[in-house]
Amino acid sequence: NDDNDDEEPEIINGHDDKEKETPKPVDKVDITVADTNDSKAEKTIEIPDDKKENVKKNNKKEIKVEKKPLLEHPTVHVEVKRDPKIQVARLKLPILGEEQRIMELINENEFLIVAGETGSGKTTQIPQFLYEAGYAEHKMIAVTEPRRVATVAMAARVGYELGLTSKEVSYLMRFEGNVTKDTKIKFMTDGVLLKEIQSDFLLSKYSVVIIDEAHERSVYTDILLGLLSRIVPLRRKRGSPLRLIIMSATLRVEDFTENTRLFKDPPPVIKIDSRQFPVTTHFNKNTNSDYLKEAYKKTVKIHTRLPEGGILIFVTGQQEVHYLVKKLKAAFPYRKDVDYTKLITKNKPVSDADAALDSEPEDIESDDDEVEREMKRARKARRKAKQKSKTLPKINLDDYDMPEDDGQADLVDDEDSEGHLSDSDAEEDSLAPSIKSCRQPLWVLPLYSMLNQNKQARVFNPAPAGARLCVVSTDVAETSITIPSIRYVVDTGKKKMRVYDHTTGASAWRVVWTSQASAEQRSGRAGRVSSGHTYRLYSSAVFQHECPEQHPPDLCRRPVDDLVLTMKCMGIDKVVNFPFPTAPDRMQLRLAEKRLEALGILEKPPMKNIRKDDEEVLKVTPLGKAVSAFPLLPRYGKMLALSHQQNLLPFTIALVSALTVPEVMTGKPDSWPATGNVLLLGDPGVLLRAIGAAEYAYVKGEEEIFCAKYGLREKAIKEIRKLRKQLTSEINLSVAGVNVAVDPEMKPPNDNQARLLRQLVLSGLGDQVGKKIALDEVKQGEDKRKFKYAYHCGELEEPVHLHSDSILRKSIPEWVVFQELYETGAEERRKMVMRNVTAIEPEWLPLLVPQLCNLGEPLDDPPPRYDEKSGRVKCHFKGTFGKAGWELPTAEVD
Ligand code: CDP
Ligand code: MG
Repeated sequence: NDDNDDEEPEIINGHDDKEKETPKPVDKVDITVADTNDSKAEKTIEIPDDKKENVKKNNKKEIKVEKKPLLEHPTVHVEVKRDPKIQVARLKLPILGEEQRIMELINENEFLIVAGETGSGKTTQIPQFLYEAGYAEHKMIAVTEPRRVATVAMAARVGYELGLTSKEVSYLMRFEGNVTKDTKIKFMTDGVLLKEIQSDFLLSKYSVVIIDEAHERSVYTDILLGLLSRIVPLRRKRGSPLRLIIMSATLRVEDFTENTRLFKDPPPVIKIDSRQFPVTTHFNKNTNSDYLKEAYKKTVKIHTRLPEGGILIFVTGQQEVHYLVKKLKAAFPYRKDVDYTKLITKNKPVSDADAALDSEPEDIESDDDEVEREMKRARKARRKAKQKSKTLPKINLDDYDMPEDDGQADLVDDEDSEGHLSDSDAEEDSLAPSIKSCRQPLWVLPLYSMLNQNKQARVFNPAPAGARLCVVSTDVAETSITIPSIRYVVDTGKKKMRVYDHTTGASAWRVVWTSQASAEQRSGRAGRVSSGHTYRLYSSAVFQHECPEQHPPDLCRRPVDDLVLTMKCMGIDKVVNFPFPTAPDRMQLRLAEKRLEALGILEKPPMKNIRKDDEEVLKVTPLGKAVSAFPLLPRYGKMLALSHQQNLLPFTIALVSALTVPEVMTGKPDSWPATGNVLLLGDPGVLLRAIGAAEYAYVKGEEEIFCAKYGLREKAIKEIRKLRKQLTSEINLSVAGVNVAVDPEMKPPNDNQARLLRQLVLSGLGDQVGKKIALDEVKQGEDKRKFKYAYHCGELEEPVHLHSDSILRKSIPEWVVFQELYETGAEERRKMVMRNVTAIEPEWLPLLVPQLCNLGEPLDDPPPRYDEKSGRVKCHFKGTFGKAGWELPTAEVD
């Protein structure tokens, strides 16, 4: 096995003198992890570069032949006294039968993948196996979870099963935890373990790290896997082996086994089959966009017509969970003082025909165009709602606020062509006979990530006698948490996903279709105790055409600039060569690094620290550290970070929010005053005015009229309002020492503020500068007649134009900076256009974007000096800007 040994990563630049003796390979690639407190304390691990593999192998063989150190494992057995009841329950879990095989594999291997059906006992049992085998005797067992809810629940469960306290089986997550010096098994969120790696790279406190729910592919989990694939071999070299167990549902295991960058030899995989009963899947014939209403209807039918067995309903978020819980509770209330047990027998046994609830008349609709039908319905609903609005509280369908009363009046009325009323009173009426003959209560429980611990725990207990268990959950019940006794699954087919704006990096939660893999996973939850049924509240056509097979991992959905900065802040410097389980595009990573360098967020380390072979390593600057705290693409984060210093944060937040939303203005720039600082601040200045004024109109209830009058898209204005609020609260939460209030009707910036804002815009968009050129300077072909001036920008050869709605068309300033460049027009009329343009002063460039300036001597001579009269530091420069080499004027700047 010497070949593998040769390629094993090793420390070459650590604290330890021993490590320095290791010969340097010819070509190497580093992940460098800097100690948070001490930038000199770096540990570099070598990763083989696949291209140069052979050269390197040969080269190294000559220098060093080293045997793979022994892999030791504990030999003690730790006695555990379990409650006999627990022992009985455990023995039913499929994983118990595999204990010996699992422990043998763990003892003999450093890497192990456990792929098992959800509910087979991975999370609750494997930590116990390890504990009993002595893995917690000298060091701790770590278990990471991508979700907070599982972190707490699983620590509690494992502690309970082992008969240990929370002092010994503990959890740790951001802002919360109960770890003590006696902790043996530590459950934590994946982000917490990443933080620990930054201060203790070798994770010396642990004997085993279990990465649970690896199939979820959270960003942190993916980065952890990459790091651990390198840490584990290092620990072995140190004579204190660390084991890595990757636990996953049976999805996507190939991403880990077939990725040779991650693991040279694929780790052994152990598959745990769960005793799974057959589950019948029913699709709806049509897909109703109001999936909450559908979920309610379906649940009522299941409960009133089908035999016992728990119901699990999947919705997308906390608010929806509460909404349905309340509604279902109101429909089938549970009262402590009633004996319901007699009711149970009234249920007939289920037949396939009964189970196919779909063939109910209300689901059969004509083949009309669904959209048209929906619009008809909406119109009717609106009419109805108007009539009723005096008597009924109106509920906003957009955010599903909780109904004020007991859940009787929730959705806006909606009467479809067959005359089926579907607001809840009506729903109960149409189902009245069955409900009345069977008033069996529903034991309705909510489940979602932020639910408090005691309430979470209730889902694991049986429902009271005579009542039927019904859990309304987000996707946490998909794989992380297994609820016993579920027989029916109601699947809305939706989930909330973080969606990034690739222009600004702002993220928002959007409701999207689940993947097909998730849908199957959800279905499986119905077959744990007996055969079951899944009701998908959408058509099979949607399943086939709208649901992706799998969603790409989080890490590949984020904008890369953001990912690069995040990783650099963790001390992972060679991002391009990082062994990602699924790698983002390398070229994109490189370009992102270049952009971040231009913006001063990354920099080459000072010459003295550069070794010959790592000229490419860019490190995060102090500015970059500050920027990374903002939940946006680094260029916008930079604007925010700098505006904090100038007390301009509320303006910048508004500005960035506005720049995130496309097409705020619908082409009426003339309605806006084009004078004074607005003209200089340019399009962002107009945006600022517009949203301030729109807020003012909003407060007076005149938003709609206002938007129409001034050519603003009302939806965009609403979106900006939401973003400003969200961004403000996220910044207050995540950036230390910041506490901004939202000032919706913000006064327009005064001249000084506007000047500073222009500088801020430049600081973030400094790599996108344009300089005015007279068009006859270039060969412009046909379009000459129309444009006298255009702009020359950076490396682009062809001239670029101001957007037709840009307010700067009125002044055509000499120098500009823009948010975005895009192409319009076909063939001959094709041209490049700048959007959201601001006028800048060229003398700001050397100060705000020095990385892109060639300044030579003038900057040093005379050197920057303190001017006592003005109390400012002044410098004097002359130079050129950018690759284009535009001359900068000689000027004094403060
Ligand atoms: O991790 P995996 O999905 O393989 O299964 P698990 O979470 O270890 O769950 C194994 C069993 O323990 C399931 O049947 C759960 O319902 C049960 N369990 C429980 O009864 N109470 C808890 N607090 C946690 C799990
Ligand atoms: Mg699990």
